[in-house]
Amino acid sequence: MAYNNILTEIENSILTLTINRPDKLNALNTDTLAEIRSAIQSAYDELEVKGVIITGAGEKAFVAGADISEFMSFGPDEGKKLAANGQEIFNLIENCPKPVIAAVNGFTLGGGCELSMACHIRVASENAKFGQPEVSLGLIPGYGGTQRLIQLIGKGKAFELLMTADMIGAQDALQLGLVNHVTPQEELLPKCHEILKKIFTKGPVAISKIIGTVNAYFEEGTDGFQKEIDLFGDCCGTEDFREGTAAFLEKRKADFPGK
Ligand code: COA
Repeated sequence: MAYNNILTEIENSILTLTINRPDKLNALNTDTLAEIRSAIQSAYDELEVKGVIITGAGEKAFVAGADISEFMSFGPDEGKKLAANGQEIFNLIENCPKPVIAAVNGFTLGGGCELSMACHIRVASENAKFGQPEVSLGLIPGYGGTQRLIQLIGKGKAFELLMTADMIGAQDALQLGLVNHVTPQEELLPKCHEILKKIFTKGPVAISKIIGTVNAYFEEGTDGFQKEIDLFGDCCGTEDFREGTAAFLEKRKADFPGK
């Protein structure tokens, strides 16, 4: 698929996906969402890719939300379709078997905040601003925001942010647990690279199982403890496990084959 709204680059086993509509503060329109879906799907399969960074072009915004101009005339059925499509794509990110980090720069509002929350880890630059301003438009979040915000910051704080539409800065987001780290703008991508580099030294199959078990905690009808037992067992059948344990006993660094 040719991309017009995102940039993709693979370097040092990292796929960097940059949402590239800076004149619209990287607002997510239908085409942009389709391109994100395609790029994330390719990250699932591409052997060269071991981790993903999602960021926004320019210094002003990560993503300032879903593209309001596209859905302002929608009725209920179109609205449901829009939300279902966005949720499907963000679930794809959340369930990606490789680590996905949001490098959050600037405005991270509505669908942008939801996109960042679908990633496994969030690193924010000092100028990042987070919010779910949908109620100001007479709407509610539709891309999983009401659910993932509770998961990350708890019900009381989530209610306040969702109902007031308040925008909060990076330090407040850090304090709430909405982001993992805050960095100066120029250190944002290097910090994301540093985290991924550390993860890449670990067993890749185990990393994918961590993603599966942690996500299982939030899956309706799934017993996360049972899933942990099953995936622990699966890990014991991998070459990564043989290599990791052998390397420990031989007092050397593991060289994981990733299977
Ligand atoms: N959808 C569509 N276009 C958007 C957008 C969105 N969510 N957010 C910003 N834009 C566009 C603006 O319309 C403007 O386009 P124009 O230059 O063609 O008029 C451009 O991006 C720059 O935005 P602007 O509002 O001029 O920048 P600002 O610095 O004055 O304000 C924000 C920045 C983020 C506070 C403001 O753009 C905003 O409130 N955006 C909407 C946020 C939102 O409600 N998101 C949730 C959507 S469900």
